[in-house]
This record gives sequence, C-alpha cells and structure tokens, in this order.
Amino acid sequence: MKREVKNKMKLSFISRSENEGLSRIAVSAFLSSAGADAGVIAQLKTAVSEGVTNAIVHGYRGITGIVTLECTIYENGLIRTVIRDKGTGIEDIEKAMEPLYTTAPEEERAGLGFAIMKSFCDRIRVRSVPGKGTTVTLDKYIAENG
Ligand SMILES: Nc1ncnc2c1ncn2[C@@H]1O[C@H](COP(=O)(O)OP(=O)(O)OP(=O)(O)O)[C@@H](O)[C@H]1O
Ligand SMILES: [Mg+2]
Repeated sequence: MKREVKNKMKLSFISRSENEGLSRIAVSAFLSSAGADAGVIAQLKTAVSEGVTNAIVHGYRGITGIVTLECTIYENGLIRTVIRDKGTGIEDIEKAMEPLYTTAPEEERAGLGFAIMKSFCDRIRVRSVPGKGTTVTLDKYIAENG
C-alpha cells in the first residue's frame, strides 16, 4: 500500500554554522504543529542537527554549498527526514558510522554524530558518493509508544 503524505516541508540554506540552529528550529516547529510527542521532537531535532553539522563541517569543508533538509510526515505516523549536501562525500560509509571514528580529531570532534543519529532514530540510511555528496535519511515514528 502506498504511504499517504500528511505534511511535508523543504528548507535549503548555505553551509554556515549558524544555520544549524535554523534547522533545529524548523524541524521542531514543523513537528510540533503536527502533534508529535515532545520526546520525539527533542530526539529528532538533535539527530537533525548532527546531520546538518556534518554536511556543513565535513561535506563543505572550506567551501560554500547548499544543504537541503526535507521532512515528510506520513499518515501512518512515520517522519522521514532527508539531509543532503553536494560536498566531498564519504569514502567508507561503514567506517564513518563507527562510534568514535572521526576525520577531524584536531577540531575536538568526538566521532559521535552518527551514533547519536542511530540511537535517536528508528532507522538511518546513508548514501554517499566521493566528490558528489551525501544523503542521510532519518526515519522516526511520531509517537513514542506505537
Ligand atoms: N556529510 C558528510 N560529508 C562528508 N563526510 C562526512 C559527512 N558526514 C560525516 N562524514 C564523515 O564521517 C565521520 C564521522 O561522522 P560523525 O558525525 O559520526 O563524527 P564527527 O562529525 O567526526 O564528530 P562529532 O559528530 O562527534 O562532532 C566524519 O568525521 C567525516 O569524516
Ligand atoms: Mg558529526
């Protein structure tokens, strides 16, 4: 059966760190108007801010590019959030997703962004092509108990 869309938003912004806050607020406002549980909103906005930060600091390291954030709420309660950049891409996705793995230790990065996204979402999917960019899809249900 095809999933019916209940509501959808899309936001694009350039890769400046002050836009991390914008992405958190946008997701939070969008989900609260849809009646999402407060705990779900808190977790998803944290996951989104990790994904957006990665796009800005790793994807577009030293260059300016566009980050897009798309959030769809389906009638069955699924919230699908997609974060996209057209930056450097990731060579080894499996390795990048290991907790504590970072390519920027000198910047005091902990290597925990993907671990946070995983633990705060029901499912995460990463697609990336070196030189072309990265797409992170976060799935989470709108209600904490079913
Ligand atoms: N959008 C992206 N484009 C290019 N590389 C990425 C992207 N997202 C993640 N990476 C790579 O994956 C690694 C792991 O990401 P993760 O968010 O888990 O840790 P981190 O960003 O290094 O540290 P932290 O999130 O704790 O500040 C990064 O160090 C980077 O090499
Ligand atoms: Mg990170």
